[in-house]
Amino acid sequence: MKQSPLPPKTFQDRLIQWQQTHGRHDLPWQQNPTPYRVLVSEIMLQQTQVATVIPYFERWMNSFPTVERLAAASEDDVMSHWQGLGYYSRARNLRKAAQYIVHECGGQFPDQVDTLLKIPGVGRYTAGAIASFAYNTYGPIVDGNVKRLFCRFFGIEGVPGTTQVDKQLWHHAEQFTPQQHNRAFAQGLLDMGATVCKPKNPVCGDCAFQDQCVAFTTDRVAELPTPKPKKVVPTRPGQFLWIESDGQILLEKREDNGIWGALWCLPQIYLEPEQLGDHVQLKGTFKHTFTHYKLNASVWRVDRLGDQTENQQWFPLNALSELGLPTPIRKFIEKRISN
Ligand code: ADE
Repeated sequence: MKQSPLPPKTFQDRLIQWQQTHGRHDLPWQQNPTPYRVLVSEIMLQQTQVATVIPYFERWMNSFPTVERLAAASEDDVMSHWQGLGYYSRARNLRKAAQYIVHECGGQFPDQVDTLLKIPGVGRYTAGAIASFAYNTYGPIVDGNVKRLFCRFFGIEGVPGTTQVDKQLWHHAEQFTPQQHNRAFAQGLLDMGATVCKPKNPVCGDCAFQDQCVAFTTDRVAELPTPKPKKVVPTRPGQFLWIESDGQILLEKREDNGIWGALWCLPQIYLEPEQLGDHVQLKGTFKHTFTHYKLNASVWRVDRLGDQTENQQWFPLNALSELGLPTPIRKFIEKRISN
């Protein structure tokens, strides 16, 4: 384990000082940071930019202002509020988290890292964030921003995300997180990672730790963190159906799990295009890149459906905006409605 170049107390003081003068103080979830508001914002902010999250967060809080209201909401209602944010398991988990807190904890939000970790969808980062932001108590956090900052500051080599590197990062986070002023400390880490210790063109001249940063003092800022080897993602075909009648379209609610789980979608069939027969016509194609594969979709116009299944339903083509649909499917439909 690498030795710290700076004692934790000095690191904490400098970071908290920096946060007060240069950090962000006007983000919506920083106002009235209840555990519920912190949970929702942190889940939204996983894999999604602050600027994208803000309007979603506001709409969410208008519709589901309390954990009780979220627990009582229908899955469709919840999914439609997430629509466009991607990684939809986050929304399903948030609803499950609310139900867990209401039904298993008597509506009382857990307030320790170990009990927060029992909430569905809450991992080590989110538990630490709730402890820090909502309760202003000890809660180590390591997200993408912190990983980058720590890899540079401590001079950690190896790819973040691997067990060996993450173990060191969490160890440092535990050692360096203070016992007080946790709200300012955690926000400082995230803000400094996002605005100073940026992935590209970090602004080392503005950094409170420049003199003690291993990457800076050894001229390896551009080499750290060690980049992930580029992975090749496979391309998979997907066949979808366009079944339209009297201004209505047949959609299918997907299973709760997997890609686009619990969203409404064009019915997907698992056949080779050649097996479709000659009563179908190609309506169009689209591509979409997921984390693990690229989808090459073909949409086939079918005049009549065999038997409608239980998870299928007709919707007016001009009234889809309230429905939780995957963005590529929504875009495809919108583009095609006119022709
Ligand atoms: N990224 C993740 N959590 C954040 C927060 N609370 N503020 C700003 N950016 C964040």
